[in-house]
Amino acid sequence: MRVAVIGTGYVGLTTGVSLAFLGHQVTCVDVNESKINQLKSGILPFYEPLLKEILAVAQPNIAFSVSLPDAVQHADLVFLAVGTPANPDGSPHLGDFFSAAHQTIQSLRNKETPAVLVNKSTVPVGTSDQIQEWVEQSGLGLKVSVASNPEFLRQGRAVLDTLYPDRIVVGGDEPAVEALRQLYADIIGQRFAEPAGAPRPSHLHEVPFLAVDRRSAEISKYAANAFLAMKISFINEIANVCDRVGANVHHAAQIIGLDPRIGSSFLQAGIGYGGSCFPKDTRALQYIAETSGYDFKLLSAVIEVNNAQKFILLDKVRAELRHLRGKKIAVLGLSFKPQTDDMREAPSIPVIQGLLAEGAEVYAHDPIALDNARKLLPPSVHLESRLHDALEDAEAALLVTDWPEYLNLDPEYIRQIMRRPLWIDGRNALGPAVRSGIEYRGIGVDAAHFADPAQNKKETHYETEPQYLV
Ligand code: UGA
Repeated sequence: MRVAVIGTGYVGLTTGVSLAFLGHQVTCVDVNESKINQLKSGILPFYEPLLKEILAVAQPNIAFSVSLPDAVQHADLVFLAVGTPANPDGSPHLGDFFSAAHQTIQSLRNKETPAVLVNKSTVPVGTSDQIQEWVEQSGLGLKVSVASNPEFLRQGRAVLDTLYPDRIVVGGDEPAVEALRQLYADIIGQRFAEPAGAPRPSHLHEVPFLAVDRRSAEISKYAANAFLAMKISFINEIANVCDRVGANVHHAAQIIGLDPRIGSSFLQAGIGYGGSCFPKDTRALQYIAETSGYDFKLLSAVIEVNNAQKFILLDKVRAELRHLRGKKIAVLGLSFKPQTDDMREAPSIPVIQGLLAEGAEVYAHDPIALDNARKLLPPSVHLESRLHDALEDAEAALLVTDWPEYLNLDPEYIRQIMRRPLWIDGRNALGPAVRSGIEYRGIGVDAAHFADPAQNKKETHYETEPQYLV
C-alpha cells in the first residue's frame, strides 16, 4: 500500500521504515529539512538499535520529503506521528499536531482516491473524533476516514516492538479499520522473514488486532502508560519501605511477580521512570481526568512518588559522605534508560543538579548520550567519554542508567581506582559478585547485607581501561 508518515521522530520513523521493510511504498515527511537531508543519505537522527539495518533493506521502498502535500497526494494511508510534548500545566501541546492535521486535510482535497488519516500521536481523548469532524466540514467525509492507531513501542526496542507487537489497536469506522487490517496483515499473521538480528519471539504466531471506537483507542494508550508507571512507583515505594525495615525489594518483586495477576515486568525498583512518554502521558491523563471533572488520585500519587524518587540517590550519597563540597562524584549513565541517547526527562539531570548545588565535582559518563547531554548540563560537569576517567579517584559512583558496561566491572579494579569504592546503585542492577566486593548501596536491597568494609586500595596497578569480571 502507499503510505505517507508525517513526523520522523521515534514513532514516525520506526513506523515508516518498518512498513517499507514489509514492502509498502512509504514517504516519510518532516518540516526539518536538515533531518530529511540526513535521512536521504542514510543517516538516522537518533540512536535506535536495528533501525539502520532494516532501513538498508527497506531503501528501495522508502522516500524522504519536506513536502507534505506531495506525499499525501499519492497515499492510501496518511499517518500523523507528530510530537505532542507537555505544556507547563501538563496538557499535551497540540500545535504541531493540529497544523499537520489541517495541512493533510487541505492536501487531501485534490486527491481522487479514498484515503485513511491515521493518528499515531498520543493525543487527548476525542482528538481523532475532532479531526473526523474537520474532514466532514471540509466536504471530504465520503473520501477520507480517520482512525486512531496508538503506538506502544519502547525506545531501544522500537523495531522489535513494531514487528512483533503485543497487540495492534485501531479505533475508527469500518473503512479505516479494514485498510489498517490490510496494511498490517503481514504483522498480524507474522508472514514476513525475520530481519537479521531481530528473531521472532518463539510464542508469536498471530498478533491480536483490536478494532474499537476512536475514543477507546486513545484512552488505552494513556491507560497502558499510566498503569506501567504505577507499577514502577508502587515497587519504588515498597523499596523505600524495605530500606527502613531491612527487607529486600528484589525478593519481594520476584515473589509478587510470580503471581500472573501481577506479572513480573516493570517491577524493577530504582530512581523512577523518565523519558519522553511516562512523565508526559501520566501528567496528560491527570489533566484529561481533571478537565473532565474527575480527580484521579491514584495517578497523582504515582507522579508525586516518581518526582521524589529521583532524589533518593542524593540522600544516600549524603548519608555516606556527609558533605559533598569539592568531592569527585562519578555519575554513570545519562540517558533516561539504556540503548538510547535520549535525555528527555532523564533522572540524571536533577541528580546532577542536586550534586552541583551541594558543591560536588561531577564526572559523568555515558556510552552514547554525551552529545545530547552537553546541550542540557551546565559546563561545570565533566563529561567523560572514558568510564575510567569518570571513576578514577572518585569518592562515590552513582549508577543512574543501567548500561550493561557498568554492571560487571571487576570489584578489585573498582577498589584500585576509586578513592572510595562506594557505589550507589540507582537501578539495583549490579550483580552479587560485584556488590560483595565494593561498598554497595542499592534502593531497598538491605545494603548492610552486601556491604564490604574493605576500602583499602590494593597494590595492583590498573591501566586506563575498565577491568571486567570474567
Ligand atoms: C514507554 C512504554 O513502555 C511503551 O509501551 C510506550 O509505547 C512508550 O512509553 C510511549 O508512550 O511511546 P519508553 O518510554 O521507551 O516506553 O521506555 P520504558 O522501557 O517503558 O521505560 C520507561 C522508564 O521506566 C525508564 O526510565 C525506565 O528506566 C523506567 N523503568 C522501567 C523502571 O524504573 N523500572 C522498571 O521496572 C521498568
